[in-house]
Amino acid sequence: MTLKKITIAIDGHSSTGKSTMAKTLARRIGYAYVDTGAMYRAVTLFALRNKLIRRGKVDEPALKDHLKRGDIVITFRPTKEGKSVTVLNGKNVERYIRSMRVSNVVSIIAAIGFVRKAMVKQQQAMGKDKGLVMDGRDIGTVVFPDAEMKVFATASAEVRAQRRYDELRAKGDTTTTFEEVLANVTERDRIDSTRKESPLRQADDAVVLDNSHMTLEEQDEWLYNLYLDRAKN
Ligand code: DC
Repeated sequence: MTLKKITIAIDGHSSTGKSTMAKTLARRIGYAYVDTGAMYRAVTLFALRNKLIRRGKVDEPALKDHLKRGDIVITFRPTKEGKSVTVLNGKNVERYIRSMRVSNVVSIIAAIGFVRKAMVKQQQAMGKDKGLVMDGRDIGTVVFPDAEMKVFATASAEVRAQRRYDELRAKGDTTTTFEEVLANVTERDRIDSTRKESPLRQADDAVVLDNSHMTLEEQDEWLYNLYLDRAKN
């Protein structure tokens, strides 16, 4: 069986394990992987560090100027362990972009039209030669509407909150409560799906993956089989 190089778009709700599934699939089939959520998180970190977000309000003109001037350069760097880390202006910011401080306001930054435009442009450039797995919210609808494989990942809010809570605990956060994480997950769902700019929605030709009750192995096989089906000539 010969396989052609395709584009794989993985969208869906937050904390559905999109990046884990996308990374695993990319490694298995030798594709590049791009985490677009990390890009919005990096812009958010930049905005917080430069005091461009005050009481939930963003200084949009200033942020626009920074983007225009090229002050916010986001790249990905592979580590010795075979992982990929997010780099903001030359510095590894992986740890900071996953903090609650960033999680709590990232939806506001991701709802700004000019921010999305700048990120989408970079994402399309990264995928111009195909052969990549990209995860996010608008990959199958806006970034790569012609992607050969589109997945829409979902799971119940409680299952997703538990996953993020466990992740925070594993990273040494002992103060955030499960209720706070659940509230954050629910609030982000609401903002992501109701925003004016590229709201989170399932592309008509996307396949739904509800992994509330799936093991990682089952999920990986499901994705791999879908890939084989879409990539065969
Ligand atoms: O997947 P994540 O939780 O790291 O995403 C962080 C935020 O960025 C989330 O609020 C949704 C937003 N996002 C987006 O609007 N579009 C994307 N392509 C990826 C993420």
